[in-house]
Amino acid sequence: MIFYFSGTGNSLMAAKALAREEERIVDMASARKEQAYRYVLKGERIGFVFPVYCYTIPSLVLDFVRRLEAEDVGYAFAVVTCGGGIGGTSAFLAKELKKKGIALSYATPLLMPDNAVFYYAIKPQAEIEALLEGAKKKLESIKEELEKEEVKPARGAFAKALYPMYRLLSKTEAFFVTDVCVHCGLCARNCPEGAIRMTEGKPVWQKPICVKCAACINRCPVAAIEYGKGTQKRGRYVNPILKGGDKA
Ligand SMILES: Cc1cc2nc3c(=O)[nH]c(=O)nc-3n(C[C@H](O)[C@H](O)[C@H](O)COP(=O)(O)O)c2cc1C
Ligand code: SF4
Ligand code: SF4
Repeated sequence: MIFYFSGTGNSLMAAKALAREEERIVDMASARKEQAYRYVLKGERIGFVFPVYCYTIPSLVLDFVRRLEAEDVGYAFAVVTCGGGIGGTSAFLAKELKKKGIALSYATPLLMPDNAVFYYAIKPQAEIEALLEGAKKKLESIKEELEKEEVKPARGAFAKALYPMYRLLSKTEAFFVTDVCVHCGLCARNCPEGAIRMTEGKPVWQKPICVKCAACINRCPVAAIEYGKGTQKRGRYVNPILKGGDKA
């Protein structure tokens, strides 16, 4: 069983590429909405695939893992998608899983296109395509290693210490919508946190803090969402796996 979380599709692409035929892929955002935390694995392997945010674990993933009740778990692995580096994120996850009696045997970062439009410009299309090609190849080798149940310990430190900083950076007050909005409601439907409510045809950020997944800002079909002063000329990123679709 593979648990994934994805704002802009990279981690969904990774989870799908790694899954065996008929292996269940569970969206942690949907599971959390349904309060589905109990799973009986019957010795089956368990995987966690999600993006790194600010060198730490996304709040939604941490919350899900802390509530998770998984029984009879086999081999456990994690793949953390990133635009550069994951710091100690997988070691932080390993510690949280250990509290649940789950030993994380294998952890790896996976370099993919960076979606952090809050901080940087999205890379040019050619670079994105090269990164996706590289990720596809890397996923093939990760898949082989996972089939052999290889051991690759989680490494690094400080991800837990960086978590409060990430939460401080996750305030929604800087989001705003411009006149190009076509009132489709996609941003509200795609928000994993239920932080956006459509009011008079336009999104309103109704929660003061969110996951900071960048789904709303990157996946708006007309780029009507901005965050503070910097995002106007930074482009937007959506993994091709989500193009043409509403939901992850
Ligand atoms: C708020 C935020 C913070 C991020 N921080 C990091 C980071 O610390 N290191 C990194 O390499 N990538 C960082 N990224 C990039 C994402 O981890 C990366 O693009 C990931 O593959 C996105 O996955 P998704 O498409 O499944 O949402 C960040 C992205 C966001 C939105
Ligand atoms: S996704 Fe974009 S266009 Fe659609 S309602 Fe949200 S801001 Fe408006
Ligand atoms: S408001 Fe936007 S960035 Fe925040 S959780 Fe919702 S979709 Fe993600």
